[in-house]
Amino acid sequence: MKTVLPGDLDPIATNALLCGGVGPRPIALASTVSREGIRNLAPFSFFNAFGSNPPMVAFAPNRRGRDGTVKHTYLNAVATGEFVIAAVTHAMLQQMNVASAEFPAGVDEFVKSGLTPLPARLVAPALVGESPFQMECQLHREVELGTGPGSGLMLIGEVVAFHLDERCLEGGILHPDRLDLVGRNGGAFYTRASGAALVEVAKPVGRPIGYDALPGALKASRILTGNDLGRLANSEAIPDPQVAEAREGDPGDPEGLDRAIQGALGRGDLAEAWRLVGRRLVL
Ligand SMILES: Cc1cc2nc3c(=O)[nH]c(=O)nc-3n(C[C@H](O)[C@H](O)[C@H](O)COP(=O)(O)O)c2cc1C
Repeated sequence: MKTVLPGDLDPIATNALLCGGVGPRPIALASTVSREGIRNLAPFSFFNAFGSNPPMVAFAPNRRGRDGTVKHTYLNAVATGEFVIAAVTHAMLQQMNVASAEFPAGVDEFVKSGLTPLPARLVAPALVGESPFQMECQLHREVELGTGPGSGLMLIGEVVAFHLDERCLEGGILHPDRLDLVGRNGGAFYTRASGAALVEVAKPVGRPIGYDALPGALKASRILTGNDLGRLANSEAIPDPQVAEAREGDPGDPEGLDRAIQGALGRGDLAEAWRLVGRRLVL
């Protein structure tokens, strides 16, 4: 492992390191208007939600790393106290990328990108017609995180209206397969958050038994991975009393059984995995 101290890097290299390691990041396509009413649209991946009562989001149109100047989005949001944040889908990726170009002040990136401006309900900035999930926001607070090039200028906004495409709802949630959002990684890489990229992980129910409660033979396995052991550790209880009490005797073909346990976990069949653990321990 290499250790790097921020003081050893210039702001551009620090940004590259952060963007590579902190990812994939959600992307806010931020729509604002200037005091004169000229639209602006730009993507920001230093973005997230930070509270739900009231609903709060924040993103950071930072000082440019090159010369420390301030971005149009920041100037507009602070001047008007309003912005719209649109989620970015895979279908919008290339047009979003056009909107990220450093056009001069006064250029409307809706026009440049071809994305569709639509009137919002409660704020002046436009909604983005192509986005299935959008938030109208009122500026809650600005937080200045430094003064030099590349320093953070965070805008925290209270969501005053959500807009969602109801076709993206499934099972009571905005379903990732229907939304097909993209996230930002390091360099010019993006992640498409749908299809084979999705992983469903059962939430811990109650108080899981934890890694420390797993039989030592499993923890010493050369086959079972951290994910396999983590899934077993996330059980509410060791289901078969035989397993709990089993002495770790001759495990016969331990690696074969470990592979079978792994296979059962991969299929999401926790009960079968524990049954095999019992065999693994008492063979
Ligand atoms: C996917 C993506 C994410 C970006 N995230 C940020 C960010 O979090 N903060 C930032 O200052 N610039 C970010 N940028 C760069 C801005 O979009 C770019 O500087 C833009 O020209 C700013 O426009 P404006 O001056 O009209 O506000 C990002 C660019 C892309 C393509």
